Amino acid sequence: MHNQVYLNGRFLPQNEAHVSVMDRGFLFADGVYEVIPVYGGRLFRLQEHLQRLHNSLAAIEINSPLNDSQWEDILHKLMAQYPGQDQSVYVQITRGADSKRDHSINPHLTPTVFCSTSPLSDSRTAAVRKGIRAITLDDNRWTRCDIKAIALLANVLLKQEASRRNALEAILLRDGKAQEGSASNLFIVTDGLLITPPTGNCLLSGVTRDLILQLADEQDIRYQESDVSLPQLQQADEIWLTSSTREIMPVTFLDDKAVGNAAPGALWHIMMQHYQHYKALFIAGEVD
Ligand code: PDD
Repeated sequence: MHNQVYLNGRFLPQNEAHVSVMDRGFLFADGVYEVIPVYGGRLFRLQEHLQRLHNSLAAIEINSPLNDSQWEDILHKLMAQYPGQDQSVYVQITRGADSKRDHSINPHLTPTVFCSTSPLSDSRTAAVRKGIRAITLDDNRWTRCDIKAIALLANVLLKQEASRRNALEAILLRDGKAQEGSASNLFIVTDGLLITPPTGNCLLSGVTRDLILQLADEQDIRYQESDVSLPQLQQADEIWLTSSTREIMPVTFLDDKAVGNAAPGALWHIMMQHYQHYKALFIAGEVD
């Protein structure tokens, strides 16, 4: 049976879901998206993801085509396909299809709304927790990385360069400062202090990143949001890359050199425990 997806008001098999070649998402990558994890049948950090979706839509001047309870309703219907399984839900909105290709925005278009879900792979999660290899690359993306835009060509090519060099992620440097991974946020640990680059136009304000800072706050783990230079990155005791689908990945090799003693670090173990505990509370319905 084919995965059921949601497209413009209908639930239908993925192989029957089609959009127009005149869709501005197809022609101009003119749209935004979200990826939300599902644990224990619940959407993790839903309000934070919806808030970021609203921010992204506002930044590209699209009115949200649905309200929050409508989004929730659609996502719950999709999630019911995989009862009891951890999932990754995908939401995409493009500006919609025009009658011709034109850079100028026609204000009367109806946005295209697409949602889908797929089970999260346990083996992949287990593999990344052992530690991953990352490389550093120049950040050649635009300067609105705070928008979760579907225009990901630069990210895709940066990730491809990482794969070519036997690494899972690329850590991106702009003006000598490490910003984030090609699809993840960056943390380093130096002398017991947790550091993450500050949010702004040059990186995505990650929902996982925010939760880690919240947990650090609650657990009295010392942290700061400040620039991370290349030497700081290279000399860090620990490096982590975080995202909704891959949680907290310890980087054990950076540019083929060991990070710390080439194994997940002490603070990573502590933070992972807090993170998993928080998830367990969430699954039990004790936190939102
Ligand atoms: N990406 N930075 C970038 C560039 C990202 O693409 C992502 C996540 C993050 C982490 O954000 P969050 O913690 O909210 O997932 C940071 C998703 C998972 C993706 O593109 O599939």
